Amino acid sequence: MEKQAANFAPGVTSQQDLLSVSDCRTGRQYDLPITDETVPAMGLRAIKVHEEDFGLMPYDPGLTNTAVCRSSICFINGEKGILEYCGYRIEELAQNCTYLEVCYLILHRELPTAEQLEVFEKEIQTLMVIPASVVALQNAMDPRLHPMSMLEASLAALSCEYPDAHVVLDPVVRRKHTMRLIAMTPILAALGFRHRRGFGPTEVRPELSYVENFLHMILTPTGVEPQLEPAMVKAMDTLLVLHADHEQNCSANAVRAVASSQVNPFSAVTAGAAALHGPLHGGANSAVLEMLAEIDDVSDVPAFLESCKKGDRRLMGFGHRVYKNYDPRAMVIGKLASGVIAVAGTNKKLEIAQAIEKAALEDDYFSQRKLFPNVDFYSGLIYSAMGFRPQTFTVFFAVGRMVGWLAHWEEMMLDPANRIVRPRQIYTGYARRDFVPMNAR
Ligand code: CMC
Repeated sequence: MEKQAANFAPGVTSQQDLLSVSDCRTGRQYDLPITDETVPAMGLRAIKVHEEDFGLMPYDPGLTNTAVCRSSICFINGEKGILEYCGYRIEELAQNCTYLEVCYLILHRELPTAEQLEVFEKEIQTLMVIPASVVALQNAMDPRLHPMSMLEASLAALSCEYPDAHVVLDPVVRRKHTMRLIAMTPILAALGFRHRRGFGPTEVRPELSYVENFLHMILTPTGVEPQLEPAMVKAMDTLLVLHADHEQNCSANAVRAVASSQVNPFSAVTAGAAALHGPLHGGANSAVLEMLAEIDDVSDVPAFLESCKKGDRRLMGFGHRVYKNYDPRAMVIGKLASGVIAVAGTNKKLEIAQAIEKAALEDDYFSQRKLFPNVDFYSGLIYSAMGFRPQTFTVFFAVGRMVGWLAHWEEMMLDPANRIVRPRQIYTGYARRDFVPMNAR
């Protein structure tokens, strides 16, 4: 058997670290190095029948089994239902940390000391100011627009205000705009709420925390003293922690793909927000509420599940690309939902959601496909109990996820393996043909 030169990665020496592939078309054998349980996709290109052939490519729609980078931010074991930020279990972070503490962790990979956290919080607070032009842009938009569309437009507009942000290879510039985006996103989000409700201008209160300021800016009309329910503040803080990062999800991948062209971070995170908006990603939390609104009573749940099983619709808030056991975020949120709803009073939607969860978990269709409640199943119920309308839920997800997008951006800018994202395709169109002039078509 003819043996072809392997595409060895540096440091690969042991035969046990090789994948031997034999091409039945030619009888040739190829050795591909295995590192971190991956083989290099470019190694396949040596596999060809004729010298002039292009060589093999992996075919992976939806990138379901392709590692696109090395990352030290977030670890997921989908089979065991484990999610960790920088080695810390999400359950412990959700219980013990504030969102800004988790932001510090995600950006620095270490939890802050009390002093470090104080400096970080102060710096964020000083940056909580929105340029007048972006406020004017929000006010110029029809307040009935989808709040995610308003947020996307505002994020994109920030790139006009900070032209130095295009110097993406400068770490000082990157840090400045990273901090700025964490500081500004809740305000951009809140402006949309205020505009719709006609609440008038707002300002950050130095005595309030980041999350308190966020809720105050959403809920308090101009000239009224903020009165925030501590249970609501804690619930929002926890939800932001749970949403802070989730490794190579659709929106982080969008940020990475767009940022790989070395565009400014405001444009890159706008792409992330746009990806998050979709109902299969961050838009699922509002889709869950819309779905629950269609079910009048617990007795209607079996018929509803049948329609999902027939493929007429998807059971929103169920299933996940990675989690095939349970979504640990859903476990935390499930408990949080019961607490928040207990404060807010009984909620028929919660009863229906619990009935759906119970019935689906006992149903072969869902168990065979390993479909469990995901983070979005109960988060919408909490927001709803807090008095928010479904269209706004994804905005909260975006506020929490901003730090994850920025950490991925920073990581890829530092990664020497980073290249512009440019996948391949299998062409299925016409073979070359003769041009037909207009008068002959
Ligand atoms: N309801 C009914 N059937 C489903 C569902 C669902 N929610 N999700 C997957 N399936 C079925 C699907 O029809 C397929 O069945 P079959 O093998 O018979 O064709 C099988 O399960 C595998 O589905 P898939 O579409 O190949 O799975 P995926 O990994 O590509 O999609 C998903 C993952 C999250 C997009 C999908 O489960 C889904 O659409 N869920 C509903 C939307 C949702 O809740 N999204 C929030 C995700 S968590 C928050 C986030 O990170 O964005």
